[in-house]
Amino acid sequence: DAAERGEYRHFMLKEIFEQPRAIADTLEGRLAGNRVLPESFGNLAPEIFARVKAVTLVACGTSYHAALVARYWIEALAGLPCTVEVASEYRYRKQVVPSDALFVTLSQSGETADTLAALRLAKSSGYAATLAICNVPESSLVRESDLVLLTHAGPEIGVASTKAFTTQLVSLLLMTVALGHENALSDTAEAHVVALLRALPGKVEAVLDLDDRIAALAEVFVDKQHTLFLGRGEQYPIAMEGALKLKEISYIHAEAYPAGELKHGPLALIDEQMPVVAVAPNNALLEKLKSNLEEVRARGGQLYVFADLHVPMVEEEGVTVIRLPETDDLIDPIIFTIPLQLLAYHVAVLKGTDVDQPRNLAKSVTVE
Ligand code: AGP
Repeated sequence: DAAERGEYRHFMLKEIFEQPRAIADTLEGRLAGNRVLPESFGNLAPEIFARVKAVTLVACGTSYHAALVARYWIEALAGLPCTVEVASEYRYRKQVVPSDALFVTLSQSGETADTLAALRLAKSSGYAATLAICNVPESSLVRESDLVLLTHAGPEIGVASTKAFTTQLVSLLLMTVALGHENALSDTAEAHVVALLRALPGKVEAVLDLDDRIAALAEVFVDKQHTLFLGRGEQYPIAMEGALKLKEISYIHAEAYPAGELKHGPLALIDEQMPVVAVAPNNALLEKLKSNLEEVRARGGQLYVFADLHVPMVEEEGVTVIRLPETDDLIDPIIFTIPLQLLAYHVAVLKGTDVDQPRNLAKSVTVE
């Protein structure tokens, strides 16, 4: 155990720091020049992708959050309608399957009972094909799907999923581009995404430099009962992932909201006792997000804002700004995940919980 953890105190921290390598390994052999190779998903993928007119994504937990991010990409870049659902809900309702729809499951383990059951149901529901994005090559999910893209994250030991999530996002971006190539995505746009993907391991490495800063920030959260995470657009699922990480390993109640929903209820919770974490890259929704954050400030809320270099926001009483290196809208969800993973990790360490094996949880949920 100690030998495998190497210099790291916990597997989770090791796995967070392995992300640049895990992402590079997941990209390896899947790009050629300015293109994503559709054959990476299987020999039949080029033919299937050319027919696909809609996408359904199904998963659980952290893998579900990756699917939620992908919906923004698939609709915006590939121009295909996309629905996302947790597997435990999907499997127990009557669905209308769109014609020529691709059914995609996401799973680190490939053995999650609800996700597997959803796949088995989908296979008899009239989908054009099934595709699994998975980290375990010999898993049931991989064996039973028509198309497969393996995330090459390497074994993930910590119950809290980290590198599996970011490599799923990378895989979903590859899938979006491969589907987009047959649909709305121009060659120039494809080349742009490919260039961003190639530069991604280096960008993630740079964000990991924030570790000491975030370890210090964790002190603020350690004696809190609740934390609110806010984001908009594709950062909303990242806020959900940040909240899940925090509750899972530090046992602090954490909730995520799309920032625009604040005044529809959660604003009533705001006081000095509940830190509010916001994910704020410099994108088209920044001004909207800032006005939501003003509403929090006006009610005495304590803000912790993860923002990139160009976000015009100043530190003042009640507002802490943590700066990330400049990136691009498209890969921001991957970049902004990293500090939230580190935050959850350091809060849990300060609280003295069992970081790698939090109470009541199993790494792979193989029963319903
Ligand atoms: C995340 O940190 C979790 N421990 C959990 O939500 C996990 O993502 C979920 O159980 C799904 O697992 P899978 O990816 O192996 O299917």
